[in-house]
Amino acid sequence: MDMDLPRERFRIRALSRQDALQTLKHDVQDSMLCAPRSLPPKYFYDEAGSRLFDAICKTQHYYLTRTESALLERHADEIIAAVQPQACVELGAGTSVKTEILLSRLTAGSRSFTYAPIDVCEEMLIESAARLLHRYPGLQIEAVAGEYLSALQALPRLDGPVLFVFIGSSIGNFTETESKELLTGLSGIMNPGDALLLGLDRVKDRQVLEQAYDDAEGITAQFNLNVLQVLNTRLGGNFTLENFSHRAVYQEVLEQIEMYLVARDAQQVTLAEINETLNIQAGEAILTEISRKYTRDSIRRLLDGSALAEHMHFEPGDEYFSLVLANRR
Ligand code: AVI
Repeated sequence: MDMDLPRERFRIRALSRQDALQTLKHDVQDSMLCAPRSLPPKYFYDEAGSRLFDAICKTQHYYLTRTESALLERHADEIIAAVQPQACVELGAGTSVKTEILLSRLTAGSRSFTYAPIDVCEEMLIESAARLLHRYPGLQIEAVAGEYLSALQALPRLDGPVLFVFIGSSIGNFTETESKELLTGLSGIMNPGDALLLGLDRVKDRQVLEQAYDDAEGITAQFNLNVLQVLNTRLGGNFTLENFSHRAVYQEVLEQIEMYLVARDAQQVTLAEINETLNIQAGEAILTEISRKYTRDSIRRLLDGSALAEHMHFEPGDEYFSLVLANRR
């Protein structure tokens, strides 16, 4: 662990790496052994993938991060006044840069405050904690490395009201059914007075969306290809990354971006740890991510179906993004 971390203000629970490896093996067996092949997007986020995602957020074409940050800057005081949180739990915290807009206000004057970031990437949690603890002397961090629902169960008892933060439109990486399950699970652990701050990307022009997922610098392509490196490292695979190309398409009817890795040639790939050989056809496309886009109506339906009620809704003039503050119904 980083020597700069003040241990009395930082705790991290890492859910078992052995369990995580078993889950990866099952997921790959379920989704990669026959066409149409796919991979759950959570496997993007090893240390290299988390850094690539951070770089995507700074590209010119990926408007999501700067749009949401501007909304947070503009409305942070209203959100804090409405909830008056004593603690904040964040799902998919990553670098915590956007959440810092809230944390800086919540710890003003060295006021004590607990932040519980959850992320699959332990290295990223430790690195972000070192930065935040140095900047905010009143901050206590209770980090959990693991998947969302199991990590929520592993949280310590927190004094409320608790502000749950799930921003960046990460909810869009789940199918409709999965996202309702996740939000219903979340609302089930919320107490009266707690609130959820949810960030969602909106339906918009196809070209804007497709460029955001195929940026000119090629960082999204590297991020997508890195998932094959994750399989090589963790499952003894022999994918050659150069044999695949990145593709991002907006499916208007489904209101979602779909990201694929397309095989340039026919090839055989071995995954030694699960004793499997994949025969991949030329042109075969592996679905690596969906990123759902929302309208005001579909947001309302999502909340309704998850036992949540919208309390406040913030959007910019161009309606590119929504920040919603919701309570348990
Ligand atoms: C993390 N998630 C919300 C990102 C998104 O926009 O769906 C992941 C991403 N994939 C490609 N670019 C960014």
